[in-house]
Amino acid sequence: MKKMMLILTLLISTSAFAQEEEPRLQGLMAQMGGHSLIILNGMFYDDFSVIEDSVAWINNHPKPKADFAIIKKELGAEIKLFKEIDDAAHNAANAIGVAAQEQDMLEVSKQYGVMVQSCTQCHETFRERLRAVLHP
Ligand code: HEC
Repeated sequence: MKKMMLILTLLISTSAFAQEEEPRLQGLMAQMGGHSLIILNGMFYDDFSVIEDSVAWINNHPKPKADFAIIKKELGAEIKLFKEIDDAAHNAANAIGVAAQEQDMLEVSKQYGVMVQSCTQCHETFRERLRAVLHP
């Protein structure tokens, strides 16, 4: 458990270190992936507090304003779907947090599945297209 946590913490702090003041989406997403793995690990080690901490990070992540402006321009009206998927991911993250506070691990794992589906849905729908404009 300790070794795993150390690796995950390093992963997260390394990408945080690489960020400038205005965070870029890619670095944020790398941190998002790290926190999702921490939540998964917390589920398997029955550690609710670790889960609550990473959920809080996911729910309050800094906004990549400049990148979001690029995304809005590229997607046009499709930004609506982008936001819906993002909201779905955040709703599920909230539900994970509530379940963790209630110490209900089965519900945590159920909502984790919902959250990860939203992560993947956005990637499958938009990632390739957005990478082209975010990293010209
Ligand atoms: C609403 C859209 C959206 C949602 C929701 C979303 N992502 Fe992403 N994600 C992206 C986009 C766009 C990229 C590509 C960013 C880039 O390359 O600049 C990305 C890239 C990534 C990457 C690769 C980062 C890298 O180093 O290239 C990871 C890891 C990731 N996301 C994890 C997650 C996790 C975990 C969640 C859910 C908790 C999530 N994402 C939810 C849009 C989303």
